[in-house]
Amino acid sequence: MNEIFTRRSLRRFTSQPLSQQELEQLLRAAMQAPSAGNAQPWEFVVVKNKATFEKIIDIHPYATPLDTADAAIVVCGNTNRERFAGFWVQDCSAALQNLLLEAVSLNLGAVWLGIHPIQQRVDDLSDLLKLPEGVIPLGIVAVGHPAEGQNNQFIDRFDPSRIHYENW
Ligand SMILES: Cc1cc2nc3c(=O)[nH]c(=O)nc-3n(C[C@H](O)[C@H](O)[C@H](O)COP(=O)(O)O)c2cc1C
Repeated sequence: MNEIFTRRSLRRFTSQPLSQQELEQLLRAAMQAPSAGNAQPWEFVVVKNKATFEKIIDIHPYATPLDTADAAIVVCGNTNRERFAGFWVQDCSAALQNLLLEAVSLNLGAVWLGIHPIQQRVDDLSDLLKLPEGVIPLGIVAVGHPAEGQNNQFIDRFDPSRIHYENW
């Protein structure tokens, strides 16, 4: 419960890079997600190049956390790997959430930057990253070591009025 309740979107980072081990652990957590038919239709593009970050910010105006992030992990769905068409969004969202929770566990900061279903962002990012046919970027995780003042503050969002038993 600790990682779930203390996960916050953190958007400013120090210049300290992630270790290869941390990066691999984030991706390992992502790939542990459930998926329809166990298709595991995810692919990850890890970007560290600052010039590419700037191009991503041009494509996506709310991707400014990349100004200070160490890495951008682009979570993509590979529709060629699907067993049941259309479930890739849910599969890759589960993977992305796992990645965010593992970031908390590693004392890293991270934020989800939405790409799909905004078609212009999907098209522009696919061109930039040279994604092959059938591979669709769902979202980007901007990740790094959190800057001072950025912390995983606990917020309780439990709302009993959203729960409907048996029928609405
Ligand atoms: C699908 C999705 C897309 C998002 N896109 C962005 C984004 O483009 N830029 C950003 O700064 N935050 C983005 N966020 C983060 C949300 O703003 C954030 O999750 C929300 O405000 C709740 O705050 P919390 O994550 O700290 O709990 C996105 C979150 C989701 C789930």
